[in-house]
Amino acid sequence: MVSHRVNKIEASQTMQIAAEAKRLKADGINVIDLSVGEPDFPTPHNIKEAAKTSIDENHTRYTINAGTIELRKAITAKLKRENGLNYNLNQVIVSNGAKQSLYNAILTIINPGDEVIIPAPYWVSYPAMVSMAEGKSVFVSASEKNGFKLLPEELEKVITPKTKALILCNPSNPTGSTYTRKELENLAEVIRKNDCWIISDEIYEKLIYDDFEFVSFASLSEEFKKRTILVNGISKAYSMTGWRIGYTAAPEEIIEGMNKIQSHSTSNASSVSQSAAVEALTGPQYVINEMLTEFKQRRDYLHYELTSLPGISCYKPEGAFFLFPNISAYFNKNTNVLRVNDSFDFAMYILYEAHIATVPGSAFGAENYLRISYAVSMEHLKEAIIRLKKALSKLS
Ligand SMILES: Cc1ncc(COP(=O)(O)O)c(C=O)c1O
Repeated sequence: MVSHRVNKIEASQTMQIAAEAKRLKADGINVIDLSVGEPDFPTPHNIKEAAKTSIDENHTRYTINAGTIELRKAITAKLKRENGLNYNLNQVIVSNGAKQSLYNAILTIINPGDEVIIPAPYWVSYPAMVSMAEGKSVFVSASEKNGFKLLPEELEKVITPKTKALILCNPSNPTGSTYTRKELENLAEVIRKNDCWIISDEIYEKLIYDDFEFVSFASLSEEFKKRTILVNGISKAYSMTGWRIGYTAAPEEIIEGMNKIQSHSTSNASSVSQSAAVEALTGPQYVINEMLTEFKQRRDYLHYELTSLPGISCYKPEGAFFLFPNISAYFNKNTNVLRVNDSFDFAMYILYEAHIATVPGSAFGAENYLRISYAVSMEHLKEAIIRLKKALSKLS
C-alpha cells in the first residue's frame, strides 16, 4: 500500500498525451512536439569545456551540502549585479534543479494544513509539492484579459491569516506573462497586511523580450527581501536542463532549513554541474542574446499565426517560450467520429489528426487554453501551423 501522500498526487493527463505521442513516434509517425519545456539549443561550448576541465581536475567528490563556495559566490555576485540584491553565502543554497529548490523551500515553511496561494494558470508541480508537504493549495484565477497576471483585488479575496505563502511564477510557465515593477508593488501592498512568504520562481528571468524590464520580487524593498524565497537556476537561461542546478536565496533561517532537508535527502548537487554553473554565471553571456533573438522571432511568428486562426485569442507574452491560446471556441465541435469537449480532447484531437503534441490548459488549472511551446525550430513551427489549420477546418 502506498502512502496517502502519494495517493493525493493526481495522475497527470499530460503524461497520457506524452505517452500517446511517444507511441505514435515509435510507429514512425512524424509528431511535432510542441509540449517541450526546455530550450532546444545545446549548452554553450565554454560551459561544456568547464565541465570537462572539472572532471580532469578531479572535482568529482561530495561538495559542501549547500553548494561550493565558488558557485555560491558566483550566485551572490549575479544577484547583486543583475538584481541589485545583497545576499551573503549563508543565504544561498544550490540544489538539484530549481524544482528541488522549490520543493525544499515548501517543505521548510509549510506545516500540515497551511494555505498556499497559487495563481492559476500555474506550473503543474506547485500544487503537487504543496500536497506532498500536506499544505492546502488555494487557487486564484488570473484571467486572460489581465494578461494572466494576478490582480491585487483578487489576491485580497483569498489571502487570510492562514496563508503561509504565495507562489509567484514570474515570468510564468505556462503563459509567459511577466509582471511589471508596478504590478509587483501593487501585490506587495496586499501582502504587507498579511505575514506570509512569497516564493518567487524566477527560472525564466533571462527569457524576456522587447526590452521588457524583469524585476525580482525581493528587490522591491528590504522589507520584501526578508519575506521572499527567491528561486532561480541555470536550466532555462543557459540551456542546461539536464545538468540539474537550481538555487535559492532567502533569509538564513530558510536556507538552514532547506540545508537540513537536502543533507538528509539528496545531499549536494552534482560537483561537475556546479563547476559548469560557475562558468555559466561568470563567463561570456552573449549566447543568451542569440537564443533570445531566435525565441523572439518564433514567438512573433507563432503569435501572429495563431491569432489569425478563426476563434483563437492569445495574449502576447513578455517572456518564457510558451504561448497560451484560448481554444474554447472549438469546444462542442465535432468531426464525423469525435466531439471536442474540453482542452484535453482538443490536445488529443490535434495529436491524432495533425500529429502535434501540446499540453491542455486543464493541466495548469485553466480549462479553456492550450500550452504551446516554441522551443522547437522555426521549420517545425511552420509545419505545425499548416497541420493545425487543416485539422481545425475539419471541426464544425
Ligand atoms: C516554472 C518552473 N519552475 C521551475 C522549473 C524547474 O527547473 P529545473 O529544471 O531547474 O528544475 C521549471 C521547469 O520546467 C519551470 O517551468
